[in-house]
Amino acid sequence: MDDHRAQGVERTVEAGLYREAMSRLVAAVHVITTRGPDGRAGFTATAVASVSDSPPTLLVCLNRRIRSAAAFRQSGRFAVNMLGADQQMVAESFGGRGGLAGEQRFAVGHWHEGALDVPCLAAAVAVFQCRMVDVRTIATHDVLVGRVEAVTLGPDKAKLAYLGRGFLSV
Ligand SMILES: Cc1cc2nc3c(=O)[nH]c(=O)nc-3n(C[C@H](O)[C@H](O)[C@H](O)COP(=O)(O)O)c2cc1C
Repeated sequence: MDDHRAQGVERTVEAGLYREAMSRLVAAVHVITTRGPDGRAGFTATAVASVSDSPPTLLVCLNRRIRSAAAFRQSGRFAVNMLGADQQMVAESFGGRGGLAGEQRFAVGHWHEGALDVPCLAAAVAVFQCRMVDVRTIATHDVLVGRVEAVTLGPDKAKLAYLGRGFLSV
């Protein structure tokens, strides 16, 4: 604990400033998918990180206001689809652009069911199929911790990244 916390002094950072600083982070773009009680669902995410390779484990941060948030908790499994630069339209569809929801989002891109019965994107750079081993609610988000049970390596092509509130090819 630093001196300020020890003295009971809260140092706050305004959310807009935090977002502005975070917009300078170069982040890979993924689509996180699941099959819930009402069918397929998914959302675009940059908040994805590796936790460990022993056993292979990753995490995804999901805003609890996303309509499919409950579906992810209920299904207990999900896929992390890492996008190529040629798959920006998929990122836009699953990012809520055009107001598409649920099954409608899967009209963009070619999707098949993986071994864990989760939607996997054809020609993604990589697909990680995960079983959810933990969920932590932190502030506005659910942190989904997934044990990776299958990995598909796609073409090693240019990757889709997000920087300064826009997409770019890396
Ligand atoms: C490039 C990009 C990155 C995003 N990253 C995240 C993220 O890491 N976590 C998250 O919860 N939402 C993220 N979002 C927003 C969600 O994709 C969006 O809120 C969601 O698709 C809305 O779903 P709904 O309309 O079904 O509620 C991101 C959106 C974009 C365009």
